[in-house]
Amino acid sequence: MKRIWLGILVLLLFAAGGCQKQTEKTDTAPIVVGFSQLGSESSWRIANTQSISEAAKAYGYDLMMSNANQKQEKQIAAIRSFISYRVDVIVFSPIVETGWDNVLTEAKKAGIPVILMDRMIETDDETLYTAFVGADCYLEGRRAGDYLLRWADVQAKPHYNIVELSGTVDSTPMRERQHGFMDVIDGDARFTVLESLSGDFLRSKGEECMKELLDRYSADQIDVIYSHNDAMTLGVLDVLQARGIEPGKDIMIISVDGEKAAVDALKAGKINCIVQCTPHLGEAVMELVTALKQGNEVPKISYPDEKVFSDFDDLTAPSVEGF
Ligand code: AHR
Repeated sequence: MKRIWLGILVLLLFAAGGCQKQTEKTDTAPIVVGFSQLGSESSWRIANTQSISEAAKAYGYDLMMSNANQKQEKQIAAIRSFISYRVDVIVFSPIVETGWDNVLTEAKKAGIPVILMDRMIETDDETLYTAFVGADCYLEGRRAGDYLLRWADVQAKPHYNIVELSGTVDSTPMRERQHGFMDVIDGDARFTVLESLSGDFLRSKGEECMKELLDRYSADQIDVIYSHNDAMTLGVLDVLQARGIEPGKDIMIISVDGEKAAVDALKAGKINCIVQCTPHLGEAVMELVTALKQGNEVPKISYPDEKVFSDFDDLTAPSVEGF
């Protein structure tokens, strides 16, 4: 009888050991990156997701990916699940800037570094994230404004009416692209922003906003459309063309991103300027993950190199290409 009890005890110990193994990481275990993507609202986002997946694969890291379908609560839940799984590093693209302090405090207490990718957060405690990698959206907004000034000087008209199609309310690109643009044109009496509508970075909403605007204004009351991303711009082009309005000629168009369909429209004269925003952040993110796992210091902020493509440039140059 004693032997049977001993046998059961050994089996129980094995079972307990087996369970423990799943939560303990050995030195040879692959690095696990928990990645919360905010959604799939645009070609930019899809290319970005692909860039992260490909880079993780190239670096030999396990990627636990979760798509929040544009819902902040889903991103928070994904981050919590990464914490319980005890991933090595959390990477996420915050849909909006506010509301992250609680969950990021939990990650900090669990000792898991957080890399913000593409979008920033608003917080009083900068220790809640280890690094940010993504575009300087304020500079993008300034670049859009700089193009407008150059174009307006050539047109030499006394006054221009602008409509702005902004991205997701309270997101970094929405706030900063607006802020940078306004800082450039502010105080210049030639410009009036008639309206600013949010199209949520979606092509369908870009279309809706444009229809709404054309219900309120005639085409000759609008000189300039500044759209915060290509997806919305492509929706705008559809509406304008369907109404017999020539985009790029009757109305000047500035867009942001640089996806292939938009770059083709730029080359065809339907968009006047595209401020580039690269979705290819995977490599930079995985380099940060590697440095962190090696215990190295990493820069708090890293911006990729970005360009501006416009009808002032030679658009046949091989460097003018979309993603
Ligand atoms: O945060 C980056 C922005 O999000 C891109 O400009 C836009 O296309 C995307 O949806």
